[in-house]
Amino acid sequence: MKVNGKNYTSIWVEDNNKVFIIDQRWLPHEFKIVELKTINDFSNAIKDMWVRGAPLIGVTTAFAFAKTMQLDSSNDMLNQTKSILLSTRPTAVNLHWAVKKMFNFLIKTPIDHRAHEVFKKANQILSDDIYSNRKIGEHGFKIIEDIANTKKTNSINILTHCNAGWLATVDWGTATSPIYFAKEKGIDVHVYVDETRPRNQGAQLTTWELFHNDISHNLIVDNAGGHLMQHKEIDLVIVGSDRTSSTGDVCNKIGTYLKALAAFDNNIPFYVALPSSTIDWNITDGIKEIPIEERDPKEVNFVQGKDKNNNIISVDIAPRGTKSRNPAFDVTPSRLVSGLITEHGICDANYNSIKKIKNFSEGNL
Ligand code: MRU
Repeated sequence: MKVNGKNYTSIWVEDNNKVFIIDQRWLPHEFKIVELKTINDFSNAIKDMWVRGAPLIGVTTAFAFAKTMQLDSSNDMLNQTKSILLSTRPTAVNLHWAVKKMFNFLIKTPIDHRAHEVFKKANQILSDDIYSNRKIGEHGFKIIEDIANTKKTNSINILTHCNAGWLATVDWGTATSPIYFAKEKGIDVHVYVDETRPRNQGAQLTTWELFHNDISHNLIVDNAGGHLMQHKEIDLVIVGSDRTSSTGDVCNKIGTYLKALAAFDNNIPFYVALPSSTIDWNITDGIKEIPIEERDPKEVNFVQGKDKNNNIISVDIAPRGTKSRNPAFDVTPSRLVSGLITEHGICDANYNSIKKIKNFSEGNL
């Protein structure tokens, strides 16, 4: 998608083996590009959220294997890379998905071929992500079009939470992809962006993306969504997912569950957009089984922003020493989910519908 009129992806390769990312910690205030070279660079980038968002975490993981295997293709290094990456962030299943894909591929590849083959594999995962998100856009667009036809209006208001935009994937985003398609097809979409405390991915990243791609939007505080829904100012909610159970429970950024409850109470469709790599086929009860990341409580006590001299600073918003809790994700039970928008189509949030997606992903249909 565009930044100042120029096309970017969130991660890319130059000269066949140099991996670059947009360092998202500084957006929207500074646009910094960083090259990731070592396993430490990759694990810090994931852990400290230079890159974030489930699909992008998966793709970055794939390139971590690519870079380490080029330096040292041994089984020791392969095992070490796997365990370092698995210890970075616990919730987004795409990390585990990518580790499994890369590890299984590399362990079967002779050691002296690994350095040569590994970039091809990681590049494939990167292009599959772009393809999946485009397809999510095409399928999700139909939901927006149907609402426009039913409402007999060209103007549709969509609420989203966190950043499930192109910065959370390689390109297009998941929740934002149908929005970009709708705009392209002439629907007048307006997006309400939850600020998404504590890391403010909505305020800092989603608004920045939408601004640069010319999508009308308002930033709202996390607690405003319910009020807007009661007053019929929201037609549709679309969010992303970090892990989806095989039964349709959806784990996403903390606060998503409250939006789903409010949408349910106000009869507003609540859709979740996700590539099938975000489905955890081993989990049937999202609330009981999905591990929820507890991040540093400091993230709750401080807010990062730009001061009037244009310096990026962090300020206290609570008495120093206040003890905080910082669960980073919550689980929305399937009963509150109107449907899942995947690269293979839209399905209901239940086991039988999701199973069809599994068959598609495994090429059995
Ligand atoms: O903590 P983050 O910023 O990695 O959390 C990201 C989200 O919760 C996104 O909504 C999710 O990964 C879906 S991204 C397409």
